[in-house]
Amino acid sequence: MPNYPTLDQLHDTLSHKDKIRILFVCLGNICRSPAAEGVLEAIVNEAGEAGRWEIDSAGTGNYHIGQLPDKRMRVHASRRGIELTHHCRQVRATDFDDFDLIIPMDGSNEQNLRRLAATEQQESKIIPMAQFIDMALRYDYVPDPYYEGAEGFELVLDLLQNGCARLFDTLRR
Ligand code: 4NP
Repeated sequence: MPNYPTLDQLHDTLSHKDKIRILFVCLGNICRSPAAEGVLEAIVNEAGEAGRWEIDSAGTGNYHIGQLPDKRMRVHASRRGIELTHHCRQVRATDFDDFDLIIPMDGSNEQNLRRLAATEQQESKIIPMAQFIDMALRYDYVPDPYYEGAEGFELVLDLLQNGCARLFDTLRR
């Protein structure tokens, strides 16, 4: 496992920036990563920092290009006041230059991203979502809810709301 920077180190290297650019990544880009995008956007809007953040999501797979997030994910997010309007796209090579942090949901997404990164500097932008999630929750990845029931989607949103709040606190001015 790579030696990821601590949240304090990420604060030191990124929190001074005028613009913070975050890309969330999962497999399909219809469940976890568009939900992460919506959750962080809601936090940033609430804090009045919308102009400073560029938040996007993408999938390593290409099964659902152009589609809205999975209906189940949209319903569960909407109950928490979060509307998901992202349209699915695949990760592209330029993402490694266009974003400051590239945040995969699980180890498989992370391995796929590492293969796509062209340089060590690009690869160093890959920090798994679990690095931001409170250790007390005891999840070292965000599990794929696609074949799960309602509780799988609720779990994803719980983990993302925890992790995105900590991500925001780490990088806010
Ligand atoms: P996601 O979930 O990676 O969280 O968007 C999935 C969505 C679709 C598929 C797999 C995972 N799929 O195989 O179609």
